[in-house]
Amino acid sequence: MKLLKVGLLGIGTVGGGTFTVLARNANEISRRTGCAINITHVADRNTALATQVTAGKAIVTDDAFAVVNNPDIDVVVELIGGYTLAKELVLKAIANGKHVVTANKALIALHGNEIFAAAQKANVIVAFEAAVAGGIPIIKALREGLGANRIEWVAGIINGTTNYILTEMCEKGLAFADVLGEAQRLGYAEADPTFDVEGIDAAHKLTIMSAIAFGMPMKFEQVYTEGITKLQQTDIKYAEELGYRVKLLGITKRTDSGVELRVHPTLISEKRLVANVNGAMNAVVVKGDAVGPTLYYGAGAGAEPTSSAVVADLMDVARLGDASIAQRVPYLGFQDGQLNDLPILPISEINSAYYLRLRASDKPGVLAGVTKILADRNISIDALLQKEPADNETEADIVILTHITIEKNMDVGIAEIEALPAIVGNLVKIRMEELSK
Ligand code: HSE
Repeated sequence: MKLLKVGLLGIGTVGGGTFTVLARNANEISRRTGCAINITHVADRNTALATQVTAGKAIVTDDAFAVVNNPDIDVVVELIGGYTLAKELVLKAIANGKHVVTANKALIALHGNEIFAAAQKANVIVAFEAAVAGGIPIIKALREGLGANRIEWVAGIINGTTNYILTEMCEKGLAFADVLGEAQRLGYAEADPTFDVEGIDAAHKLTIMSAIAFGMPMKFEQVYTEGITKLQQTDIKYAEELGYRVKLLGITKRTDSGVELRVHPTLISEKRLVANVNGAMNAVVVKGDAVGPTLYYGAGAGAEPTSSAVVADLMDVARLGDASIAQRVPYLGFQDGQLNDLPILPISEINSAYYLRLRASDKPGVLAGVTKILADRNISIDALLQKEPADNETEADIVILTHITIEKNMDVGIAEIEALPAIVGNLVKIRMEELSK
């Protein structure tokens, strides 16, 4: 039987999972591919750990370059993360004519354009299914399963850590700071946890999905990114009273004037399946013009779920590694030279519905003043909730859900409302998404 020799860089959580899954399912995998996939070399700074996990079945080294330069190795699996060393190793492996499988979303989002150009030239595969939503085969779905469609939009819960935090805040009424530590203990958090809570990890994954959905280069620098650190329990509670859940969504949409590319907390009707994706789970909704909205759900992180994607990529390499470029699925699903450099809309130009919370003196005419400002700006109100002032208080919360308007129009309206004498402090604004059409 044909043998695919794999050099594994990094045998941490996902690397260990990859080793386990490849060994446990070796028979099934070779029945599917007609090929035995063997990890023959492992590089990790922690050679003791690597020796323990591989149990004599692979050669262990602390020198990752020795692996990428080894002529016996067919494919390099990069699981060390980060951009600097990982980029150097991946480009070196490509230059050496090796196929590459990576779970490194930051690397692909920031340097994918350069990496794919090098890989195209060297006629090698770079596969990265594990980089987005862990075990959910969303890259394959977007690139192949939905290939007949003009993709209109993609929206997803693509960070498990923040989804866990938001679920706990919603179900247990806890504050952000109270849940953060527990989320980190789950082991899904990035090495720098601000990548999770500030939405950067989700922005990496969204960048990759938008490139594949619309056939454009990676545009990570242009993603509007807002995390969940400022989200207040009060707003999660009011949203729930109105029939909504708050999720950190990565959203990309194709519009006539450009592409929306944004990560931020979002109100979603509780009637949508995706609003009920809880804990550390991920889900992605993709709208294609032919198929309509489709939903993909599963574990977005963890050893075996992520290695499920890594191993599937290795199986593609086993099947297509010797094929010509023309026979393979292109890196982003569009032929070389067929990417469109679509403009990305600044956040002020996006269209959205909004949740607004304001605090106002409880006296006659205040609400009329607020609604007049919205009406003058042609912003239609969808729902309104006015809370009674608490005992001994003279101010009340007002929550307004608006219909869709352009963000810059909403922001001017918000500034005008904040300038009203009866309004106390700043308004809270959270974007809303329908996710049905
Ligand atoms: N930190 C990521 C998450 C891990 O929480 O989803 C998977 O990419």
